[in-house]
Amino acid sequence: MASPYSNTPYDQVSPNESSGFLATRRPKRHISNWIKFGIPLLIAVIIAAVLGGVLGSRAHNNHSSSTSSGASTNPSATGEVAASQAASIKEAVGLFPTGTDSQYLLPIYPSTTNTAAFTTPTFNPSNNASLAWPKDPFQPSNPSPTSVRSDRPRLIAPSYKWQALPQLIQNDPYLKFWNDTIFGNATAYYPLPPVVYHMDGSSGILDNAREIKMRLKAFSYVYRMTNDTKWVDRAFLELQNAAGNGTASFGPDSQDRWNPTHFLDTAEFTAAFGYAYDWLYDAWNDTQREQIRTSMVFYGLETGLNAFSNSTTGWWADNIEGNWNCVCNGGLTVGALAILGDDTSGIAEQILGLTIDNAKSNCALAVSTDGTWAETANYWYFGTTGHAEMASSLMTATGSDYDLLSVNTNFNLTGLFHMYVTGPGSLFSYGDHGPNKFSTTANSILFYGDQFDHPEYILFQRDQHDAPEPWSMFWYDPTVAGAFWDDMPLDHFFDNQLDQWGSMRSSWTDENALYIGVKAGQLLGHQNHNDLDCGDFVIDALGTRWAGELGSGDYLSTNYFDGDTQNGDRWLYYRKRTEGQNTILVNQANQNVNAAPTIKHDTSNTTQGSSTVLDVPSNSTAFFTADLTSAYNDTTSFKRGIRMLNGRKQVLLQDDITASGSIMWRMHTNASVAIDSSGTSATLTIGDQTLQMQILNAPSGATITQGPATRFSNDPPLPPGQVDQPNPGVTVVMISLPAGTYSLQVLFNPQWSGMSASDFVTPPSVPIDSWTLTSHN
Ligand SMILES: *[C@@H]1O[C@H](CO)[C@@H](O)[C@H](O)[C@H]1NC(C)=O
Ligand SMILES: *[C@@H]1O[C@H](CO)[C@@H](O)[C@H](O)[C@H]1NC(C)=O
Ligand SMILES: *[C@@H]1O[C@H](CO)[C@@H](O)[C@H](O)[C@H]1NC(C)=O
Ligand SMILES: *[C@@H]1O[C@H](CO)[C@@H](O)[C@H](O)[C@H]1NC(C)=O
Ligand SMILES: *[C@@H]1O[C@H](CO)[C@@H](O)[C@H](O)[C@H]1NC(C)=O
Ligand SMILES: *[C@@H]1O[C@H](CO)[C@@H](O)[C@H](O)[C@H]1NC(C)=O
Ligand SMILES: *[C@@H]1O[C@H](CO)[C@@H](O)[C@H](O)[C@H]1NC(C)=O
Ligand SMILES: *[C@@H]1O[C@H](CO)[C@@H](O)[C@H](O)[C@H]1NC(C)=O
Ligand SMILES: *[C@@H]1O[C@H](CO)[C@@H](O)[C@H](O)[C@H]1NC(C)=O
Ligand SMILES: *[C@@H]1O[C@H](CO)[C@@H](O)[C@H](O)[C@H]1NC(C)=O
Ligand SMILES: *[C@@H]1O[C@H](CO)[C@@H](O)[C@H](O)[C@H]1NC(C)=O
Ligand SMILES: *[C@@H]1O[C@H](CO)[C@@H](O)[C@H](O)[C@H]1NC(C)=O
Repeated sequence: MASPYSNTPYDQVSPNESSGFLATRRPKRHISNWIKFGIPLLIAVIIAAVLGGVLGSRAHNNHSSSTSSGASTNPSATGEVAASQAASIKEAVGLFPTGTDSQYLLPIYPSTTNTAAFTTPTFNPSNNASLAWPKDPFQPSNPSPTSVRSDRPRLIAPSYKWQALPQLIQNDPYLKFWNDTIFGNATAYYPLPPVVYHMDGSSGILDNAREIKMRLKAFSYVYRMTNDTKWVDRAFLELQNAAGNGTASFGPDSQDRWNPTHFLDTAEFTAAFGYAYDWLYDAWNDTQREQIRTSMVFYGLETGLNAFSNSTTGWWADNIEGNWNCVCNGGLTVGALAILGDDTSGIAEQILGLTIDNAKSNCALAVSTDGTWAETANYWYFGTTGHAEMASSLMTATGSDYDLLSVNTNFNLTGLFHMYVTGPGSLFSYGDHGPNKFSTTANSILFYGDQFDHPEYILFQRDQHDAPEPWSMFWYDPTVAGAFWDDMPLDHFFDNQLDQWGSMRSSWTDENALYIGVKAGQLLGHQNHNDLDCGDFVIDALGTRWAGELGSGDYLSTNYFDGDTQNGDRWLYYRKRTEGQNTILVNQANQNVNAAPTIKHDTSNTTQGSSTVLDVPSNSTAFFTADLTSAYNDTTSFKRGIRMLNGRKQVLLQDDITASGSIMWRMHTNASVAIDSSGTSATLTIGDQTLQMQILNAPSGATITQGPATRFSNDPPLPPGQVDQPNPGVTVVMISLPAGTYSLQVLFNPQWSGMSASDFVTPPSVPIDSWTLTSHN
């Protein structure tokens, strides 16, 4: 049975419904064309054909080593049966999400129940070369970073994988779709002129580097799949351009062409050259190889070697547990591995002697004990891409990851972080959003899912818009089966002191689901990518985001990254200030950078089942509360709590506060806001969806007001000549109260279709200290 607020759900997709359902279910949405096939979904047929066959086949024993046809002496017949049944289900279901939300680029899941296909995430090991990767024949007994496999490619995609790939593509709709997409992308890049040098200041030439890397990966991939040397020639054009040998000049000058003072750029160019050198190794002639190497060594590896003893270019190597360390060590490692043995200067060996240990003691520790990436949800992409590329390249080239994957025993939780920080609207995108992504994706969790035995990471990511690119082709384990949402708890709380955040939702597969992301956490220790945002939250419902984030300021602003002290200039910019967050302000002042909140939370532990339609029990709930007193001056006590109500159809946000300074509740929204005449409730509208918010038990004089997302006129001034970014379309909803003691309760009622006014509940008033799972029934 469907939840009352989902769109006309139906339990099964039949072939004749499948072509039209997107249009009828999502009349307001433009379905972008990243997925145009994958239909029909012959699910009814499949259930009949294979029911029972895959049910209960949950065991996942050592999948990565049992796929070798040579090594496996006693292949389990039932294992093979399960694998082949899973393969036929996969073929028949096809590419499961059949469209994507054009605004948020998240997959749209059809409403269906398929207890044959959507079982517990698992791997179905197989010896059938059409269904599973063979075992890597290169298994050195004493791996060493400078001892590489003898065949090419050596980075990420060894030749045994290229040989297996065409057959795997034939039997996996995801691989097939990604292969087609990469061909399409490479074809689109082909006629374009080489990437034009552009120094944009705030991110240097990082966009250039990542765009070139993206293109080179695609060209190299298509060449290897076709043997058509036109792709090699086109790749060389791009390499020559980035080396300054093209028709247009490239880089700030002929010495610092890859901009080593912003070393991310240098590292990404080095990686790009490394992959192209290695993947196209057999296609280059000696002159070309030497040219690529010379440029990469001069602009990349030599500046990299210097960086390890130069704090201007190499500050990232000195105790930086964040994306910089991963990207810089990763790029240098990839470049060094690519030319190892061909370059006689010894620089590749020197680099490898530095990068691996450095990444182990820094990059690998950027994942907290709870799996959270210590910077932000967006910086997770950059950090994990650098880390995964480095670990994967070391493994394929030399036979070991040198503990990059295991030195932090909690690294395996970082896929969970990414899944829970992804709401049905978009990421809970607190803090800085970072530069453009280009070659950066979430595909690291395809790799991690395989390495850490978390099939749900793979199942989640394979449906995402950024999956199609060359890494997926080699990181994806096609023996994966089941559904990521099956048995997946709706809520998860991330408890590390540094992070302290919660994720609660009403469904994993309904783009209209209710979602709350909320955080407390410490305000130092995030590589200056965070905001002063204890108590900040986002709310998604009805396919859109109601309370949201403003994102990065201008990285070029004066002292934008000066955030280690209370008076650091970073905290002068509106988007970074507490007033730019969805939280409480006291005296219109910033929160204290040394805040040390404590949190409590609980959940009914509701999990989703096989169906994409979840019937949420009426007592299913979750809450997160934080004692934020330490974040404020002039505040005797302050606790904020947020919870799901009424079977996860409503949200209550409560602030129990005693302050000697003025209090202001703030929330940023893209909605247009209509406040009723009493001032105690407001109707928020985005498109044709509405959400009603209302102050409960309104403290005397408490009214809702609205204003622009701009700084207060009496804020301390910005550094000379600096301005805040405009926030067009954003309204701040406010509730202002004088000093005093309050329990301020705000109820959010998304206006779900099919729900009438009487279906909404008005919760009792309960002090946050007394909140339990049943306190609001
Ligand atoms: C391997 O799998 C393919 C695709 O499912 C199937 O057609 C083929 O018969 C299988 N081969 C063996 C030896 O089982
Ligand atoms: C990969 O995609 C291209 C373009 O659609 C197609 O021509 C080629 O046959 C595909 N490769 C395989 C192995 O299916
Ligand atoms: C790759 O091709 C797909 C399908 O046409 C498109 O949606 C996507 O934007 C392209 N990606 C890039 C980076 O050009
Ligand atoms: C490309 O060439 C390699 C090496 O000769 C060969 O193994 C492979 O089958 C060829 N691929 C195609 C698509 O022709
Ligand atoms: C190597 O290849 C390039 C590009 O195709 C060509 O211009 C050059 O003449 C070749 N050099 C040799 C020595 O074959
Ligand atoms: C670019 O030109 C320089 C100077 O002639 C040469 O050393 C280098 O190898 C060339 N690199 C590429 C990729 O063409
Ligand atoms: C460190 O690197 C910067 C930028 O490339 C350079 O200007 C400076 O001379 C280097 N310092 C040393 C000591 O090498
Ligand atoms: C993560 O890895 C650690 C250390 O290997 C292990 O003890 C733990 O069970 C793993 N956790 C998960 C969720 O995989
Ligand atoms: C407004 O919408 C944009 C685009 O979807 C989003 O990036 C931003 O976070 C939203 N802002 C708020 C305050 O919700
Ligand atoms: C709060 O008070 C402390 C101690 O007086 C002071 O150092 C700090 O700057 C104040 N915080 C803010 C945000 O004003
Ligand atoms: C939810 O799960 C947690 C952890 O297993 C457990 O401590 C708690 O009692 C469970 N709560 C309910 C309501 O089942
Ligand atoms: C919800 O109700 C079910 C059935 O009465 C009960 O077993 C469960 O404990 C309740 N859960 C909570 C969180 O109250």
